[in-house]
Amino acid sequence: MNRIPLIAGNWKMFKTGSEAVSTAEKLANLTQNITSTDIMIAPTHLSLPLVTQKLLGTNVKVGAQNLYFEQEGAFTGEVSAEMIKDTGAEYVLIGHSERRQFFGETDESVFKKIKAATKVDLIPIMCIGESEKERNEKNTFAILDKQVKNGLKDFVSDDPDSLSSLVLAYEPIWAIGTGKTASVDQVDEIHKYLRSLISQLFSRDFALKIRILYGGSVKPDNVKELMAIEDVDGALVGGASLDPDKFIKIIGFSS
Ligand code: 13P
Repeated sequence: MNRIPLIAGNWKMFKTGSEAVSTAEKLANLTQNITSTDIMIAPTHLSLPLVTQKLLGTNVKVGAQNLYFEQEGAFTGEVSAEMIKDTGAEYVLIGHSERRQFFGETDESVFKKIKAATKVDLIPIMCIGESEKERNEKNTFAILDKQVKNGLKDFVSDDPDSLSSLVLAYEPIWAIGTGKTASVDQVDEIHKYLRSLISQLFSRDFALKIRILYGGSVKPDNVKELMAIEDVDGALVGGASLDPDKFIKIIGFSS
């Protein structure tokens, strides 16, 4: 099964609008000849229209970092899937650990957000991962199992086809922004587990099609070994995606 690798940059709460546009422009220039890898950056909501506009016709796609699951209404400060789609963005991160940790994101809201994203044909990148404590207590598989099953619950029985674009991102919380990357063996074990879980929930065919990204301190000097793992189909990159000169090395798998 040939899955096109996806290298995605999560810019988190960094870069003003003008900084985002100039970084995006630089990245577009650096990636002009890259056709075999999908590339995505997720700036803040504020920068989405500016950045999508700037990147029209380039190899760099745009994603949002979050959405709210309701279509519209009195939800001060929130942004709907349709509003994101309307900016020209194609992807959306859902359930990032920072949202789970600081903003009350739950498996239930993740489920509703994935549903809202697929309804308007935004590609959902569903983020999952265990904390250091959960790993130390040997709860990693139970946590991932719960996050995946609850986050995708009704799709399993009702509507697997609407999920065909789903991307999973395994981001162990202890590896995010810490410089600690999960080892090749750890990543291999988890990604295999996730693909077999998806296979059990949906089908082998479905599981072979979806992309599973690794995230957590991905850098130019470790991306090659991570991308060589059979079930790793890309990376979700935080810090190292902010600098186009670094990010382009990751996009090229730093070979
Ligand atoms: P870092 O690459 O900075 O560890 O962040 C990973 C991440 O959270 C991407 O979503």
